[in-house]
Amino acid sequence: MEQKKILVTGGLGFIGSHTVVCLHEAGYKPVIIDNLHNSRIEVLLALEKLIGYSPDFIQGDVNDKALMSEIFKVHQPNAVIHFAAHKAVGESVEQPLMYYHNNVVGLVSLLEVMQNAGCKKLVFSSSCTVYGEPEQVPVKESTPTRPAASPYGATKQMGEVILKDNSWFEVQCLRYFNPVGAHESSLIGELPLGVPNNLIPYLTQTVAGIRPQLTVHGGDYNTPDGTCIRDYIHVMDLAEAHVAAIGRLFADKIAHSVELGDPSCNNFEVFNIGTGDGYSVLEVIAAFESATGEKVPHIIGPRRNGDVVAVWAETTKVNDVLGWKASRNLETMMRDAWNWQRAVS
Ligand code: UD1
Repeated sequence: MEQKKILVTGGLGFIGSHTVVCLHEAGYKPVIIDNLHNSRIEVLLALEKLIGYSPDFIQGDVNDKALMSEIFKVHQPNAVIHFAAHKAVGESVEQPLMYYHNNVVGLVSLLEVMQNAGCKKLVFSSSCTVYGEPEQVPVKESTPTRPAASPYGATKQMGEVILKDNSWFEVQCLRYFNPVGAHESSLIGELPLGVPNNLIPYLTQTVAGIRPQLTVHGGDYNTPDGTCIRDYIHVMDLAEAHVAAIGRLFADKIAHSVELGDPSCNNFEVFNIGTGDGYSVLEVIAAFESATGEKVPHIIGPRRNGDVVAVWAETTKVNDVLGWKASRNLETMMRDAWNWQRAVS
């Protein structure tokens, strides 16, 4: 059977690079476009080591329509996984236009190019941020979304609306919870530029001595230990979810979602990509210490603006319909995150 080609936008980034490995292992041929805005070219060499050949790579921007049209002409991908987007909540508040341009205009531009090329199949990176502060946890795919707390969140909501409104495309919309960890080889992982905002890179940099201590943002929330609760998911589990989503697109099963009674529109399916378990910040610190034997210097500081108190995923739909389930636990996430930090520092 002919090998299916998957265009991976943002394929040198954190989630993109891990997904390239899983696509290769599942028998697909990844083609990468990345503008290196928040990623490094060295990742391509690491991918070569992991998959045994250098994947097709184009340095460029998804907003560049002429380039994108050329890529579709030359490579003729059978489907697209669209990771290329900005993702820092705080930065999106400071530079909203940059976020709307890249995440929303970039998506529309990609869809136009795909439509011209006759390519219908797309996996879209959404986020649990679309649920805002939920009234009930765990959140289901049918839980109503809430007004976005940041331009970043708004771009993910808009992306979902744009895709729902265009039923010519066949879309798997994956709402990621909190991706952490790294490939177990420590050849690829998360490469935050500057001071990290997210918990795990800040934590591992602290233990590596790059930061003096970790500040836990708020210890007085209405949770069992007073700290916020999230659904942390190993990036390799997340990458495997993309392969499952691509498989579902090629199996042409997507239209059945309507019969399954979920709120998805025709040709647009939403899945929560989490483990289904919520852990507090203090539980994460404890898991890191037990997985690695390292102490995490930390203090409890004030709350961070815009933080949701508690959110984790209801995973019944993704388990049953997509046939995917996370298999790596919190300790594995912490071990792999720490091994990766040691490899880069
Ligand atoms: C946020 C976004 C999410 C986005 C993700 C990636 C929201 C609600 N969530 O996730 O959509 O995909 O960023 O950029 O907008 N924490 C500390 N100390 C730190 C850093 C974090 O205590 O130094 C705590 C936070 O308060 C939070 C938890 O750790 O409770 C996780 O924070 P973080 O890793 O930044 O992710 P989210 O804010 O959950």
